[in-house]
Amino acid sequence: MSSILFTPLDVGPVRMPNRIAVSPMCQYSAVDGRANDWHLMNLMQLGISGAGLIMLEATAIEPQARITHGCLGLYDDASEKALGHVIESARRVAPEGTRWGIQLGHAGRKASAQRPWEGRGALGPDERPWITEAPSAIPFVAGWHTPREMTVDGITRVKAAFVASASRAARLGFDVVEIHAAHGYLLHQFLSPLANRRQDDYGGTLENRMRLTLEIADAVKAALPPEVALGSRITGTDWLPDGITVDEAATLAKALEQRGVAYVCVTSGGVAPARIPVAAGYQTHLAAEVKAATGVITRTVGMIVAPRQAEAVLAEGQADFVALGRAFIDDPRWVWHAAEQLDALDGIQYPPQYERGGARNWRGSALLRPREGAGRI
Ligand SMILES: Cc1cc2nc3c(=O)[nH]c(=O)nc-3n(C[C@H](O)[C@H](O)[C@H](O)COP(=O)(O)O)c2cc1C
Repeated sequence: MSSILFTPLDVGPVRMPNRIAVSPMCQYSAVDGRANDWHLMNLMQLGISGAGLIMLEATAIEPQARITHGCLGLYDDASEKALGHVIESARRVAPEGTRWGIQLGHAGRKASAQRPWEGRGALGPDERPWITEAPSAIPFVAGWHTPREMTVDGITRVKAAFVASASRAARLGFDVVEIHAAHGYLLHQFLSPLANRRQDDYGGTLENRMRLTLEIADAVKAALPPEVALGSRITGTDWLPDGITVDEAATLAKALEQRGVAYVCVTSGGVAPARIPVAAGYQTHLAAEVKAATGVITRTVGMIVAPRQAEAVLAEGQADFVALGRAFIDDPRWVWHAAEQLDALDGIQYPPQYERGGARNWRGSALLRPREGAGRI
């Protein structure tokens, strides 16, 4: 069987050896924005996974852009140096052709929060909170920090910070830079009428709400060398009556493409509490609608777990590639197992040190993961 999942994909100037991405996942483990041993372990582990694209977690463009005290940053020489050490090491052990991406973001009104394992709430007065900024002075939920309405000077500062971080990312050799415009963080706050009540050129109409994201895309694109792909994570729906719709997401995707954005990852939710119907592939229809309406290269994410499910999403043309998050935490060898199930073992590279434990050589893997049609052992 020939598998689409294990077929290369050109994302702008970047060739992915297969259509599997590790979804960006915050580790909340940095100190003053700087990567450390945890990031080294995590990225080395993911580096040998065989995924075509490994996205690093949401990385703050300035200190106050971090969600928590533990969020990764790429905003000064120290954070660049720390991340440089980690990414160079991870790249050295990863199979040739593995692509590396970094997600750049600003948390806006969701900044100054506790790490998930410390409560997930707004930082209290004795937890070194900081002043947050957002399009409008509306807290995320009652009891959260009330952000300052961002001034035009603040907007100018944020744009420059995105550009500076993207330039640092290019210097570190990242193949992909992704602008985070989803999950209720700053750019999503500008995009969604639920968080943006501005009366100026950055609020009101969709054109105005998209303005900041598009200006950042323009500026970052201009700063990146041509061999680096620019992408964006966008929201397909806020799951709330007056929130962003999938039609608006398609309009944004098209506008981003016109500015040189090579792909969009369509996700959802996060700008305000909502009931989200989480189930297998629960966001894939959003990617499919954006892709059908625009033709933009589209990544889908969200409870894509089984290899055959991922293969079907691509075979049906619902998206061009898939991202998996928690499945990679659960099983860092997901790619190897998917290749086994989809009869695509020729399409993956094991590190030679691990060759004897891979399904090409070790028939015990069929005992661990029995499947219909598996060979005798
Ligand atoms: C621990 C954790 C951290 C996450 N951090 C980020 C992040 O930094 N940026 C982002 O866009 N999404 C983040 N997400 C969301 C994932 O990228 C993904 O969209 C979500 O988990 C759904 O995919 P899944 O069902 O494959 O896990 C995070 C998810 C998890 C579980």
